[in-house]
Parts: sequence; structure tokens; C-alpha cells
Amino acid sequence: MIVRISRGRGERYDDFDVNITAEMTVLDLLFHIIENIDQTLAFRYSCRGAVCGSCALLANHVPLLACRTTLAKILNPGGSPRVSLPSGAEIPAGGILLEPIPRLPVIRDLVVDWEPFFEQYLKLEPALKEEKNLPDKEHLIGKDEVRELERYTNCILCALCWSACPVVGEVEGYPGPAALAKLYRFFLDSREPGRAERMLLADTDSGWWACDFYTNCRKVCPRGVPPNIAIGKARKHLKGEDQE
Ligand code: SF4
Ligand code: FES
Repeated sequence: MIVRISRGRGERYDDFDVNITAEMTVLDLLFHIIENIDQTLAFRYSCRGAVCGSCALLANHVPLLACRTTLAKILNPGGSPRVSLPSGAEIPAGGILLEPIPRLPVIRDLVVDWEPFFEQYLKLEPALKEEKNLPDKEHLIGKDEVRELERYTNCILCALCWSACPVVGEVEGYPGPAALAKLYRFFLDSREPGRAERMLLADTDSGWWACDFYTNCRKVCPRGVPPNIAIGKARKHLKGEDQE
């Protein structure tokens, strides 16, 4: 099988002829290449278990986690809905094309600089605020609230939604789907003292109101987080429609 990989900052693509099984994950494939063919190949990983988010890349134009996706799934995607992103090269016949995720600067090969993603994320203050008057007992949260919070706390900050969101490339200062989902998560949290003010952090033309509901964010998320739903609910709240 031919595996074509973007090298440097996308100046060229290298083809590797590999003898592997389709049950391997994309990350296994990258290890195979670095251990047997080319020690200079650069890629990122840490947990190898879909928890750290660092192995995000494009495989045959589809944004995904390398540690979680088998080659078989890429070669035979079946009927599952997929988001296909523009790319700088053709997929080799019957093979695999690997590229860094778009909308972030490339450092080398498959490694990107996450700074723009985290810069926007941190602007939305993604942590519980300190309460002035601490309660005597622990906060108790109902099951329904926990269930709703968990939809958004499952985010692993892999930036796949950022890379797949057209608005990120169109609107300067757009926080991106993951940051907005996180902001909504703190609005939902009854332990958060400044919930109302939270919503205003993104109440701008480049914030909540910039989303065009392409829904790519939800389709590519490996953890099932629905940023599009968070954005829709936040807008309803700001328009007062959730009080009706
Ligand atoms: S919302 Fe999903 S796709 Fe976006 S950063 Fe979080 S885990 Fe990744
Ligand atoms: S290596 Fe951590 S998510 Fe893939």
C-alpha cells in the first residue's frame, strides 16, 4: 500500500510503500514508518487512547484521531457521515494520504502549532470562577445537570472541530466550536458564580453570532461533543427565547 505524507510545511509529499495490515491504526502506521523507513518523520501523540487529542490529523481528507482510527475504516468508510476537507495532494490509488490538520500553522510534517486555537480558548476563561461566599457544604448537582454538563466536558481539545469549521477561516477572532462549547458548559454549571456574565464574553458578531451552523464540528468530534447545539442554545438564551 502506498502512504503519501505531507512533509516540511507542505512543500512536498513523500510516498512510502508499506506492507501492513488494515487492522492497524493510523498511529501504528506512523510508528511503522518511523521505525522501519524514515526516522525523520514528525508526528505528535501522547496517550494512544483518544484522551489527549494530540494525534489529530487529516487522513484521506478526513479530520480524525490517528490513535483511534484503523486503516480499514479510512479505506472502507461505509455509510458514516464524513467531513472531507480541501487538501494539497491526491489520495494514492487504494492508499492513504496523511496531512496536518488545516487552519493551524504547520511546524513540520504532521505537527501543527496549536497556539491560535488555545489563544481563542483561553480568552473565554475556561475555568470555574472563585466564589466569594463559599457554602458550608459541598455543592450538590442533580443528575440531569450532570448529564447535560458531560456533553461538553468530554472535549479533549484536539482541535478537529476548529480545523473543520469554515467560520474559523472566515471570521477573524472567532473563538471556534470547542471554546464556545466550553463557555456554554460554564453557563450551565450551577456552581459557577458568574453565569450570566459568562455568556456576554462571546456576545459579539465574531462570537456566538458568527456561527453559520455548518455542523462540521459535531460530525468530526471524536467525543460526541455538540458545539453547534451549545451555540444554538446560547443564542436562544441571549434572545430571551429560553424563558418562553
Ligand atoms: S469539541 Fe470535539 S472536536 Fe472539538 S476540540 Fe473538543 S473533542 Fe476535539
Ligand atoms: S494519542 Fe492521545 S488522542 Fe491520540
